[in-house]
Amino acid sequence: MFSPHGPSLRELAVQALSSVEDGYDLLAPKFDRTPFRTPDAVLDATAGALRPLGPFGDGLDVCCGTGAGVRALEPVCRGRITGVDFSEGMLAQAREAHPDAAWVRADVRNLSFAGEFDLAVSFGALGHVLPSERPALFAGVHRALRPGGLFAFPIGAPQPPTSGLYWALLGFDLAMRVRNAVWRPPFVMYYRTCPLGAVRDDLAAAGFDVETVPLAALGRRADGGPRYRLVLARRPGAP
Ligand SMILES: C[S@@+](CC[C@H](N)C(=O)[O-])C[C@H]1O[C@@H](n2cnc3c(N)ncnc32)[C@H](O)[C@@H]1O
Repeated sequence: MFSPHGPSLRELAVQALSSVEDGYDLLAPKFDRTPFRTPDAVLDATAGALRPLGPFGDGLDVCCGTGAGVRALEPVCRGRITGVDFSEGMLAQAREAHPDAAWVRADVRNLSFAGEFDLAVSFGALGHVLPSERPALFAGVHRALRPGGLFAFPIGAPQPPTSGLYWALLGFDLAMRVRNAVWRPPFVMYYRTCPLGAVRDDLAAAGFDVETVPLAALGRRADGGPRYRLVLARRPGAP
């Protein structure tokens, strides 16, 4: 559908009727040829914003998928890179593309790492976690970091109702709510459930000190504000 070698409309429909885990297992071989894979521009802008805060030791990619986040972690981490995801299909692709990294199968809502990383990142995955599940996710990442460690992820600016994207995302979320009301297993993916204010509050409640920086390289909205910001959530303590 997205390119000659990308998934067909039928394959996307089958994926959308599966659970999140099974859906990504099915999509994995063609995932990198879909717009769902985080674009290199976002990964490079993230690495650029992290560079002055580093170098970091060991890095973790939360919901790593096929391993896109390696591109953001590699330039700023001197230690080992680990990716965690619950789709074995996505992890298999990541393993093949980046055999030097460690790839761990786990549900990020129940992470068991303890004080092992200096930097954690996450791309394109927050919409898969319900607001009620965010505290468990953030507590797990907080535990996974060493004191002084940083959890960083980009977040898009809210769209004004005058933009077409505002209505497209609203329409997607409404369609997903209808789908999840009538079909099992649920496929959790909502674009509008993770506004910056709520995410910030949940990070603070998990024990992080939170700030954001604009990702200027990714452009500006019509009102002059940045299209994306990088959330920087630090686990307090001396590194
Ligand atoms: C849109 S993909 C993003 C992949 C990659 N981070 C990227 O930017 O290209 C979302 C990924 O999150 C994973 N995922 C969603 N919910 C998860 C959970 N509860 N535990 C572990 N992985 C999860 C999916 O398996 C999928 O690989």
